[in-house]
Amino acid sequence: METIVEGFGPAGSIFEGSRFVRACLRKPVDRTPVWFLRQAGRYMQEYREVRKHHTLIEICKKPELAAEVTITAAERLGVDAAIIFADLLLPLEPMGLDFEFQAGEGPVVHHPVRTAADVKALRIDRAGELVYVAQAIEKVAGHFKDRLGIIGFCGAPYTLASYMIEGGGSRNYVETKQLMYRSPAAWSALLDKLVAVLTAYCRLQVDAGADVIQIFDSWVGSLSLSDYREYAFEASRRLVQVVQAMGVPVIYFGVETAGLLEQMAQTGADVIGLDWRQPLDVAWRNVGHSHAVQGNLDPITLYAPVEILEQRVREILRLANSRHGHIFNLGHGIVPGTPVESVEAVVKMVHEFRLEGAHG
Ligand code: CP3
Repeated sequence: METIVEGFGPAGSIFEGSRFVRACLRKPVDRTPVWFLRQAGRYMQEYREVRKHHTLIEICKKPELAAEVTITAAERLGVDAAIIFADLLLPLEPMGLDFEFQAGEGPVVHHPVRTAADVKALRIDRAGELVYVAQAIEKVAGHFKDRLGIIGFCGAPYTLASYMIEGGGSRNYVETKQLMYRSPAAWSALLDKLVAVLTAYCRLQVDAGADVIQIFDSWVGSLSLSDYREYAFEASRRLVQVVQAMGVPVIYFGVETAGLLEQMAQTGADVIGLDWRQPLDVAWRNVGHSHAVQGNLDPITLYAPVEILEQRVREILRLANSRHGHIFNLGHGIVPGTPVESVEAVVKMVHEFRLEGAHG
């Protein structure tokens, strides 16, 4: 009998490529792959230890540290994919915007973009400065080889534009929407510049060994369907397509997107990331079964007693119905204070779940 070593099986067998990448491409897998949004972060003691000695930005900019934090989290949890430790806002710096992370307040951009002249001043020729992220990816890829999927990431144009314009997080996106409605030329010039920089940034990550790119459109749920179509969709679609042309699958993720899923799928992304507000089967139907989906446990369920946690995990797996192309994840990131044991327990539950008569 032929012995098949995972990752080196005959072409087309369920052993070719990592479980995670296969699921992104809706190929059959032996079990559902699982990883977690924000799997390396403050909920984890190991990360807090590193943070005692370095700021968030220092960790991002030192490839040895970023790689260590990425690898430690993925190894400890036993997940099927490692997302590179970086931050959504890093590309703002080479575009000419200074920002910092203020304790407990999230990111603050010092001179937000508010006018056409501000947009004009943004640089698009210095994405190469983000090479430290690529260097970290190289280290992580060298460590895991084909054992785990390596995820590179960037923000989507709309979500990054909102940080640049608001100067940080926002409740109502008043400044962002004002620029969008009142200065459409400046708005589209801004998104064009972001697409240019993000394309170069993703290219660095793919060349360094990222197997998949996740595009975070975290705040796209602030838009109506009409506004998403008119002001944000096209830039996301272009970014998705240009990254796919680099030869890797793309995951496109947003929060509070129940009304946007069908349109988000029109970007052509291989995988759509789901939040937890709709049952997985309903959301998948809206996305369309020709796309894979990732999700969608409420991250706060990780605070529930294990019996309730298990019910919720099993419910999601049942709703996925053994269809090809489900990646188990949360509906948004792990929050600080989450018991790490609960996260480990979810990995075990997902890995022990038996897929039945898997189908496309
Ligand atoms: O394992 C991982 O996923 C960690 C890598 C990672 C970070 N940020 C590190 C980080 C990733 C994938 C991100 C993405 C990111 N950054 C997003 C999109 C993800 C999402 O949740 O939708 C967004 C919106 C940001 C911007 C950002 N960075 C905010 C709003 C904050 C503050 C949040 C808070 O809880 O304080 C950050 C800081 C940040 N980025 C932390 C980490 C681990 C926590 C701060 C710290 O260590 O001091």
